Amino acid sequence: MIDKESGVYMNKINFKNLYTERLELRIPTMKEQYILWKILINEDINQYYFPTPDRIFVKNNLSKDNIEDLKNARKIFMKQLSDWERQKPFYEKKIEYIQMQEDSQKYTWSIFLKDTEIVIGQITCQPKDNKPDNIRDVGWFIDTKYQGQGFATEAALTVLDFMFNEVEITDIYTGAAEINPASWKIMEKLGFEFVGTKKSSYFKDNEILISKEYHCNKELFLNRKNKLLK
Ligand SMILES: CC(C)(COP(=O)(O)OP(=O)(O)OC[C@H]1O[C@@H](n2cnc3c(N)ncnc32)[C@H](O)[C@@H]1OP(=O)(O)O)[C@@H](O)C(=O)NCCC(=O)NCCS
Repeated sequence: MIDKESGVYMNKINFKNLYTERLELRIPTMKEQYILWKILINEDINQYYFPTPDRIFVKNNLSKDNIEDLKNARKIFMKQLSDWERQKPFYEKKIEYIQMQEDSQKYTWSIFLKDTEIVIGQITCQPKDNKPDNIRDVGWFIDTKYQGQGFATEAALTVLDFMFNEVEITDIYTGAAEINPASWKIMEKLGFEFVGTKKSSYFKDNEILISKEYHCNKELFLNRKNKLLK
């Protein structure tokens, strides 16, 4: 379907629950958001997942090129993020949009263990900054208690299948900190091609980190999916 406004080819379909062998990827509701927020405020989860928003740098006159500024901006952001009462209205708004399917172009799922009410993480396939809707980014996090069991890979395989085959996006561009192999290994396993490195806005100790950048399209993904399912 060609979108009249952007001229972009993509099926603007509502998103739906997806199922894997061990997981249920559900359309988010407010019910599980507090637990997801609790997972997210753990530094092990957010440090390479949730970049410090640009507004924090602008508002506080801080630079992304200076390690002390990066640390200060992170501190300010973490203080805001870890205040549930402050965050709750944003979550409520987000869920309201999702329920009305007005935010469906973002495609976000809450990841539950199948046949339970245990929520273990989140996966998103969101528009890429300043790019047409058919070009996307992906993001994922899994509660530390449930990591290392292949859950993120399992969720990502199903989400990518839905995005390429049903929504018919054309490309995904994404990246992960070089020191976060748990994330870029998922990309490599799912057929993403490595396109290079760049300076990220993440840091560890006194170093600004490098991120590994990846690209995927339907052909790359389907080739790998067929190999994985053999
Ligand atoms: C990235 C993340 C979602 C992976 O979740 P997960 O369910 O543990 O991932 P999987 O079990 O599917 O494992 C993915 C791969 O990474 C590997 N891996 C997992 N943890 C690892 C670690 N600490 N170091 C090296 N490799 C690791 C796994 O072995 C697997 O590779 P393999 O199949 O070749 O063995 C999880 O670590 C997380 O939530 N991290 C914090 C948030 C984050 O960084 N998100 C991504 C931002 S780009």
